[in-house]
Amino acid sequence: MLHLTVVQGLWLFLPAYAANVLAVVVGGGAPIDGGRVHADGKRVLGDGKTWRGLLIAPILATLLAVLLHWAAPRLAGWGVTGFGESPWYLVHAWAMATGALVGDVGKSYIKRRLDKPRGEMWLGPDQYDFVLGGLLFALLGSLLTLPATGGIWLLQALTLGPLLVILILTPGLHLLVNVIGYWLGLKEVPW
Ligand code: CTP
Ligand code: MG
Repeated sequence: MLHLTVVQGLWLFLPAYAANVLAVVVGGGAPIDGGRVHADGKRVLGDGKTWRGLLIAPILATLLAVLLHWAAPRLAGWGVTGFGESPWYLVHAWAMATGALVGDVGKSYIKRRLDKPRGEMWLGPDQYDFVLGGLLFALLGSLLTLPATGGIWLLQALTLGPLLVILILTPGLHLLVNVIGYWLGLKEVPW
């Protein structure tokens, strides 16, 4: 059932999606690079990557995961999986959310080296940075809890169908959410 696979994929990646959106809402303030300039004369990361976004957004996304963890058994008909057993699911969700924003920071570092200013669209990396980071860190988080849980959560929860859903639908979703953020006056550019 395709619609169930779509729900399962988007559900599983909600902490990463939420972190990306929440960074725009709670971000701002001190930039991670402290305003420093790289040897190439460009900013290391730029003013769009701030500590508030990197640290607070994943905490809020983890609070969302508490709600998702509670809701998962009640949505069994949709076949959604939880984020692992309590309390370890908190580690998985936090790792996924943090990874999403670490991936975003890594992309900005490369973007600045390629002389692309803050906010300029970089089709591909702008949409996939947080997918790569979110999945990688969720795997690392799963390995961290392996001794306690006896299994690698991400590999148990993320099967091929939901993974393909994440890979195929994320760019479009990303653009849609950014256009809404632009309309709401939260973002300076609609991408
Ligand atoms: N944001 C933040 N801290 C982060 C990530 C994002 O404060 N770690 C906020 C910033 O206000 C940023 C906005 O969210 O401008 C949108 O994020 P993004 O599109 O990733 O940044 P850009 O400003 O487009 O910068 P870049 O070109 O480096 O991607
Ligand atoms: Mg951007």
